[in-house]
Amino acid sequence: MTPHSACARAHANIALAKYWGKANAEFNLPAVPSVSLTLRALSTTTTVTFDDTLDDDLVFVGGKRQQGRPKDRVTEMLDRVRAAADFKTRATVESVNNFPTASGLASSASAFAALALASISAAGLDWDSARISDLARRSSASAGRSLFGGFVRLPTSSKGSYLPSECIAPPSHWDVRVIVAVTSLEKKAVSSTRGMNHTAATSPYFDAWVNLCSTLAPRIERAILAKDIDELGKATEQSALSMHASALAAAPGVLYFEPATLHVLKEVWSMRSDAIKAYATVDAGPHVKVITTAEYASVVVQRLQGVQGVLRTIASKLGGPAIVIESDR
Ligand code: PMV
Repeated sequence: MTPHSACARAHANIALAKYWGKANAEFNLPAVPSVSLTLRALSTTTTVTFDDTLDDDLVFVGGKRQQGRPKDRVTEMLDRVRAAADFKTRATVESVNNFPTASGLASSASAFAALALASISAAGLDWDSARISDLARRSSASAGRSLFGGFVRLPTSSKGSYLPSECIAPPSHWDVRVIVAVTSLEKKAVSSTRGMNHTAATSPYFDAWVNLCSTLAPRIERAILAKDIDELGKATEQSALSMHASALAAAPGVLYFEPATLHVLKEVWSMRSDAIKAYATVDAGPHVKVITTAEYASVVVQRLQGVQGVLRTIASKLGGPAIVIESDR
């Protein structure tokens, strides 16, 4: 076939109700429901070119050739696309993040969402967003959520292998802001997959975590629909801290926090005692993401910039769905 190329962009997302634990490893199905916000300021742009002259997939992230597991994860997704499109042509994949990769800033979410959309488009497949979200989820469960904009849910399922994310409300529903306090430029030591599998296998708190999620996720959805920032924030903090508590109690414990993570958490709590509506969440990395509303965004940025160990802040509004930027199909 003649070479076919498509370029897509997807935004990162931050889970308010965290996904942590798999119900089924083969199909990468989550053990708990999750709810996220899509972030306009953080994105991955990916170009996929299927080209008959290649003997193997060539994968570049930020211009750097990828080998080993990072490359294999891309090939695994492309193999699913090739099987669906019924061809064997290899591809060049060029991906660029506008933020640090693999440090708990949700780079795998935007990366696999952009890769899924670009490869489906380059392969000439006419799939809807739900089906592309399911494809992205197979590679990284959180990536399924990045196909959609605004407020997004990834439910659980114990039946079958198909599980797309769903949009709860578009960005126009509510002007929630997220301020990311970047505390490190290092890659994280324990990937989220390793961290959650080890937690599920060894933590005495894992079952309690799974039970809690069945009430926290719907509580967070109700708070979103009611635009109740205090209720949303309280449930969001409880989700993050309970996830980390379950990981800390694993044997041996999994610790993603750095000293600066704690400094930021304490500053967020101190903001609340000053009547600033700010709530924190932390993923499988040391950064803190602070959830607030438009009214408090600039004071939150100011306060976070004064915290010891904060390297920089990234302020974001809610982002839209993943989009195809260019396609020759
Ligand atoms: O999608 P994964 O396998 O990278 O896992 C993401 C896990 C967390 O970021 C910690 C939580 C979440 O729901 O995004």
